Amino acid sequence: MTAVPDTAPPGGPRHVAIIMDGNGRWAQARGRPRLFGHHAGARRVRDVVEACPELGIKYLTIFAFSTENWKRTQVEVAGLMSLFRRYITREARALKERGVRVRFIGDRLRLDEKLVMLMDQLEEMTASNDLVHLTIALNYGGRDEVARATRRLAQDVAAGRLSPDDVDEETLPRYLDTHVLPDPDLVIRTSGEARISNFLLWQSAYSEYEFIDTLWPDFSAQELRRLCTSYGTRDRRFGAVPA
Ligand code: FPP
Repeated sequence: MTAVPDTAPPGGPRHVAIIMDGNGRWAQARGRPRLFGHHAGARRVRDVVEACPELGIKYLTIFAFSTENWKRTQVEVAGLMSLFRRYITREARALKERGVRVRFIGDRLRLDEKLVMLMDQLEEMTASNDLVHLTIALNYGGRDEVARATRRLAQDVAAGRLSPDDVDEETLPRYLDTHVLPDPDLVIRTSGEARISNFLLWQSAYSEYEFIDTLWPDFSAQELRRLCTSYGTRDRRFGAVPA
């Protein structure tokens, strides 16, 4: 395991997950179209990924597009998909060189072929990196993930590969998109909304939450450091009583 650097807040989170909310309001406040906010949001993703090593964050999971986001206008959805393609194309080399391993979670079936190809390529080209594990949730919904996992589990039962008696709390997570990741220690949501919006439902059962007012395009590495420091002072009991 990579040693936690001296610059990291003591007892800080190893896995941070972020619901990046507020791009639309940030753009509207400037009299600009919503996509202008999403582009500004993409630049913040870069800053936050770069800040992870010195904060001791080994895993960063970000919510880029939910299974519900298809309900937005066709212009916004198409603009976001084009932004994801551009982000992957433009950032791939820097991510690889900075030791970032990228994974995508979510249902790829509804995404266009070109985007899925770029996602596959980025996963493959960063597969040997281990400094920071960046997971991008794209067409992701927690309920959808649990439903897909349950379907695969049921197929294994039907095929005789798994006995119903052996299904317990350890079994289902092995079928989730996140099966290779630890559970998030800290989940942050920007923009003043106090909802989890179908994000990492199973995995965040014992996560600490931070709901902050900052709109995502205004989020900074300094604010992330403050939240990590505050996390280090929390007493996580996982249902137990203090010793
Ligand atoms: C929520 O803000 C944000 C999204 C649905 C998109 C998140 C996407 C990005 C941050 C862009 C880049 C991401 C990557 C991985 C390149 P909102 O539009 O709901 O804001 P609002 O609540 O103010 O309307």
